[in-house]
Amino acid sequence: MAMDRITSRAAWKGSEIDYRAEMMHRFADAEVAEIDAALRACGERDLPDITPETFPLPTFGPRMLAFRDELHDGRGVLLMRGFPRERYSADEMARIYVGLGSHLGQPVAQSWQGQLLGSVIDISDVVEKVRGYNAGGAQHFHIDSSACDIVSLMCLRGAQSGGASRIVSVSAIHNRMLDTRPDLLEVLYRGYYFRNHEMDAAHSLFPPQSAERIPVFTQRDGRLTTVIDSGSLRYAVQQGGITMSDLDIEAYDEMQRLARSEEFFLDMNFEAGDIQFLNNRVIMHARTAYEDHPDVAKRRHLLRMWLRVDAWPQRPPHQVFLSDADCAHWQAQNRRPFMELPSRWLAEMTEMQERRRREKTVLPPLATAGRSASARGWHAERDRAAG
Ligand SMILES: [Fe+2]
Repeated sequence: MAMDRITSRAAWKGSEIDYRAEMMHRFADAEVAEIDAALRACGERDLPDITPETFPLPTFGPRMLAFRDELHDGRGVLLMRGFPRERYSADEMARIYVGLGSHLGQPVAQSWQGQLLGSVIDISDVVEKVRGYNAGGAQHFHIDSSACDIVSLMCLRGAQSGGASRIVSVSAIHNRMLDTRPDLLEVLYRGYYFRNHEMDAAHSLFPPQSAERIPVFTQRDGRLTTVIDSGSLRYAVQQGGITMSDLDIEAYDEMQRLARSEEFFLDMNFEAGDIQFLNNRVIMHARTAYEDHPDVAKRRHLLRMWLRVDAWPQRPPHQVFLSDADCAHWQAQNRRPFMELPSRWLAEMTEMQERRRREKTVLPPLATAGRSASARGWHAERDRAAG
């Protein structure tokens, strides 16, 4: 197998880069005006009906395509800043977000429920058994679903403090491991067994667990493609009967250790209105811990979008675990019209929180970071659970 050094601009170190200079676009007034006009043209359409045709950007659209090339061939990261959040309602922001995204790719469903925008907000004290993006606290480094080529966040409301988006170039980590631990790098090229979240798996067209190991790294034409997600590996250990060898564990832990080091990661603080786009094949993301508001309606609230980009070469099939077909199936089966609009979603959550407070049934908040950062810890968690 080819384990060549990645020499492209995709290999960068957080300690050596100023994202404001290299990864940021600041909206000009004329661009805001063009986006505003597109929103007026789009009206109150439901999200699947927001397309480059219904959200026309005659001048900024071609610019978006240039940004998409930069995501593919450059640093893999784009932050758009300076959009006047205060002039728009949360629902208008959601439509603007999907409108901009539609010029880059096709939004795909993010879970079995079929939603095209996810609300990234801590509601773990309100809703039982939430997924990672609905819990608080820090997150470990990961890549989102293999069905997603560009993962994106829009900030509706920032945290009281903390909650930075922490990102890292997988290519840079790859190169370091090539120098220091090629034996562990080889383990990552061989990969791991992945298992879907149980609710997604129950609604999936495919078996919940990969039949073969899925390579964390694959190379094609000098490009690295990566898939890694502690949740899927942990489910395989805890529910799928998989045992990771000492070397498997060491390789996973070494990748995380490098990602967590100041030399490699880059922190981006989010301001209201910020939009971040990441190439989900080459950038891992995490977030730092943060201080939040007691009221759900005033908490750190981001919208997340997954985009499939048909104009890019497809992800190597042996690295696809969650597929396009799954996302299309979820959307067709379970999505309800307008379900993602943040105003009604937040109203629903606020009502639930008030009820729980009245009835004194508020749940103990869940922090994602409470789960073990080390792959060795997953085995220990499973063994404890088995008692
Ligand atoms: Fe994520």
